[in-house]
Amino acid sequence: MKNYIKHDPWSVIEEGWHPEENKITESLMSLGNGRMGQRGNFEEQFSGNTLLGNYVAGVYYPDKTRVGWWKNGYPEYFAKVLNACHWIGIHIKIGEEEVDLNQAKSITEFRRVLNMQDGTLFRTCHVTLKSGKQLKLESLRFCSMADDESGAIKYSITPLNFDEIIRFTVFIDADVKNEDSNYDEKFWDGIHQEAQGNSGFVTVSTKKTEFQVCTGFDFVFHQNGEETKVEVEPVVKEKYAGLLFNFDAKRNNTYTLYKYAVNLSSLNYKKENLLNETKKYLKTISGKGFSLMLREQQQLWAQKWSTSDITIEGDISAQQGIRFNIFQLNQTYTGKDARLNIGPKGFTGEKYGGSTYWDTEAYCIPFYLATAPQKVARQLLYYRYNQLDKAIENAQKLGFIKGAALYPMVTMNGEECHNEWEITFEEIHRNGAIAYAIYNYTQYTSDYSYLAEAGAEVVFGIARFWAQRVNWSNEKNKYVMLGVTGPNEYENNVNNNWYTNYLAAWCLNFGLEVIQYLKNNTPEDYLRISKKIKLEEISETEQWQHIASNMYLPFDAHSELILQQEGYLDKEQILVKDLPESQRPLNQKWSWDRILRSCFIKQADVLQGIYFFEEDFDLDTIERNFRFYEERTVHESSLSPCVHSILAAKIGDFNKAYEMYLRTSRLDLDDYNNDTEDGCHITSMAGTWLSIVQGFAGMRIVNGKMHFSPHLPSQWQQYSFKITFHDTLLTFTIHSGKTEIHNQSEKVIRLCINQMDYEIQANSTLLV
Ligand code: BGC
Repeated sequence: MKNYIKHDPWSVIEEGWHPEENKITESLMSLGNGRMGQRGNFEEQFSGNTLLGNYVAGVYYPDKTRVGWWKNGYPEYFAKVLNACHWIGIHIKIGEEEVDLNQAKSITEFRRVLNMQDGTLFRTCHVTLKSGKQLKLESLRFCSMADDESGAIKYSITPLNFDEIIRFTVFIDADVKNEDSNYDEKFWDGIHQEAQGNSGFVTVSTKKTEFQVCTGFDFVFHQNGEETKVEVEPVVKEKYAGLLFNFDAKRNNTYTLYKYAVNLSSLNYKKENLLNETKKYLKTISGKGFSLMLREQQQLWAQKWSTSDITIEGDISAQQGIRFNIFQLNQTYTGKDARLNIGPKGFTGEKYGGSTYWDTEAYCIPFYLATAPQKVARQLLYYRYNQLDKAIENAQKLGFIKGAALYPMVTMNGEECHNEWEITFEEIHRNGAIAYAIYNYTQYTSDYSYLAEAGAEVVFGIARFWAQRVNWSNEKNKYVMLGVTGPNEYENNVNNNWYTNYLAAWCLNFGLEVIQYLKNNTPEDYLRISKKIKLEEISETEQWQHIASNMYLPFDAHSELILQQEGYLDKEQILVKDLPESQRPLNQKWSWDRILRSCFIKQADVLQGIYFFEEDFDLDTIERNFRFYEERTVHESSLSPCVHSILAAKIGDFNKAYEMYLRTSRLDLDDYNNDTEDGCHITSMAGTWLSIVQGFAGMRIVNGKMHFSPHLPSQWQQYSFKITFHDTLLTFTIHSGKTEIHNQSEKVIRLCINQMDYEIQANSTLLV
């Protein structure tokens, strides 16, 4: 756990230079706009501890799987989000001396600030070079939300104690590597590079997938605020374009460079037009200029905050924590493009390959549903709809037939690309989360048109998979599901994981409900879809019904506990509190076989199911299972504490709820798991939001109606959050003993608070 980030309500601040923590700070200070993003790297040369990271959403490389013993059915590759063209580069030489913070004699007044309100990254410092020359550096940059294939930098240098020739090299460089490359190869081939006038362009193509990305830049130079023409010398190499210029710098004068950059990819433009389009785009943004681009950035971020902000009074670190989570989610996914999704590390690092996991459906969708326009969550659902054919193919490869769909555990384009056996083949619960997200969406929005349009086909494909994946057990007189891994990855190849069985039965029932809904409401759609997927209505629905009502759900009658899987109670029952600190995290300290034999749980599993289907369980059952599994859970996945926090709040254990909330809220800011240097845990950030809105405020949607049971954690004076429900923006403020709800719309809103019904008139406030 680290504690060097300054607490502040709107900013993430590194004050004083912390070179040993630089990779962590780079992750925390990442910027993005949904289409591209980058780590908080320095513009100038830096030979110290750094992970260079620039990413273009949707552009990936299929890195060939590396395993010792190949097994049939393994995915060919693990998709990697690519470290793409480094577009921020500005190298500086004072005389012959390179400015490199790692080589400097001293660095003072260092401050790096991620401004979450505006979506910008600022840095300032005084550098004393080995020669004794002193200078001040200042930079401000952002990935533009308005022009989301571009970014801009304002970079200033002021000599403090010398007059000397300064040499600037302003460049873009696509000759970069991924740290996590399986075979230590570079993923980009050079296609074109040029530099002339004040601009430069590099086009590169990914090996195998042949995505092309063209990056272009230009710059304007100012002396003491006045634009100044400079003589530039182009430097062009394979995958590199730079412009070099010198000027006679005088002490206490400030020299500023405005650099504009554009990243266009063949996902959005024809390859043959890429260079010209990049030139056009660049002209537009540099024509706008830095100040206008910045104003637009501020306006767009203000809009985002106006529907998604959470304020917490009385605890500045909690305030910073929740804003950091909301900020990262908003800059990772904007919902503009249904081909994009939310990688567990977003644009903040290479780990998890930038691919899509069940995290999106299980955790992120509720956040976007409540804080962004409806279209945003819809796009995430469409992402899966568009990959349905691949999911059917994926299931076919594993022997399933008749349109059964198995969505991948990890994917970029619909193909499975995770290369661990247990996860690819066994962690099939992910399929259920995808159907559950469709249910969640219709519940929240009451937009049932999505079912006929796309959702029903996905639900039916998933139902067909479960119907084939179970088998009848004569011994149990029930359907069983053998050889799976539940969300708790510290068990492999178990029989009858309760969560998976329960979810499968639920999906089959949901499939039946969707059929009924379509037949009753849009019969022509039902006919069209059932014809398209060759649904054998009578036999298939009878089968779904039979399985759903006869699924084996492991339960211990003596303790009245749901069993995570058959035989779970045979394990030696040890509690997490009795594990010596020195043995944790288990995944770093214990052998894999010891982890598998133990009763310790990586992340919510039975509790994940209780969280999803809470209405099916009475409070005693929730509490009994919560108490039992909570004591055995090590939370070695960042997705886990939020589920525990929400359920703890449900049973009224607010101390536990708060303890679990703290683990999610500042996970990255305090580097709680010692891994923030790899990137931030973007998908689990949605869990932090859930812990407040569904946990402390108790939001649930039941039969299309909002319910709340607000609680104020004793550590806070008050908190407020915003949600959009049926196109109505509501602001909730929870004070001690009272709740204020402002309805910012022309509609009357009905909701339920602590089981009482209320109406809020248009544009008015209700105090309860
Ligand atoms: C978790 C998975 C999750 C993945 C990506 C793993 O550690 O166990 O549930 O999907 O991380 O976040």
